[in-house]
Amino acid sequence: MTSPDYAVFGHPISHSLSPRIHATFGKQTGITLDYAAIDAPADAFAATLARFADAGGRGANITLPLKQDAFGLCAQTSDFASRAGAVNTLTRVDGSWHGDNTDGPGLIRDLTGRHSLDLRERRSLLLGAGGAARAAAHALLDAGIGELVIVNRNAERADALADSIRDPSRVHTRYWNDLADLGSFDLIVNATSAGVARETLQLPFALVAPRALCYDLSYGAAAFGFVAWARAAGAGKALDGLGMLVEQAAESFAIWHGMRPDTDPVHDALRAELPLLATD
Ligand code: ATR
Repeated sequence: MTSPDYAVFGHPISHSLSPRIHATFGKQTGITLDYAAIDAPADAFAATLARFADAGGRGANITLPLKQDAFGLCAQTSDFASRAGAVNTLTRVDGSWHGDNTDGPGLIRDLTGRHSLDLRERRSLLLGAGGAARAAAHALLDAGIGELVIVNRNAERADALADSIRDPSRVHTRYWNDLADLGSFDLIVNATSAGVARETLQLPFALVAPRALCYDLSYGAAAFGFVAWARAAGAGKALDGLGMLVEQAAESFAIWHGMRPDTDPVHDALRAELPLLATD
């Protein structure tokens, strides 16, 4: 059996759409590639990645819960990945890993490109402080949002993220238990992995300002709970992260193969299979 050139690592990983997305991009651009999904619990990740590299692995995508661990395994990281402290794209360069983070650009492309949304000056709430949240925070601040309030179940992790951003006039943290007292937001991003674990977040409707945009970084059934909550609360737009998934994949593909694929056909085909809500 030959080893794959490219792979996505995560835990759990069996339902990842990345192998299919990259295979479709390969067909579209005429690039032959072999892209696999590799399950790696956090304590086995470094060894699993090293075996992949030894067998000729050239590039990897990293998903939860390994994005901050992946950052630590890189010899070099891009400016954005360094700021986020999280990596979702690894490229083998001269026998070591170069780390990029395409989640941030992928999120912004989906919001401002596909959905033509203006993010500037939006009062924003970020739920979560893990690897995905870190990239989202930096990308949204770069895109010109107003105040960013970060709330995480583990408050210390939220504080660490806010401290690392070094923008105290715009970025604040609050406790999860105080969510009902924070007022309303024009943008609410769910970057927790609660939905992936099929857990439900208890969120007050009062968080959602009229015409607010609510966005879950996960997609499919994992985002159903948040999207349903946002609609019930009267959000102007409630989206899952399917568009971000396809856009971050295209950015990774461009890093590895020097060509950016057309994302719309891939996104539209997946959306037809993965409605925003079970009832859509
Ligand atoms: P990812 O790469 O997706 O960010 P991660 O680094 O494991 O994955 O981060 C998961 C995030 O989801 C964290 O912010 C986590 O909160 P803690 O830091 O307190 O663990 C958050 N999370 C997971 N399950 C949650 C739940 N049931 N309620 C609230 N937050 C949850």
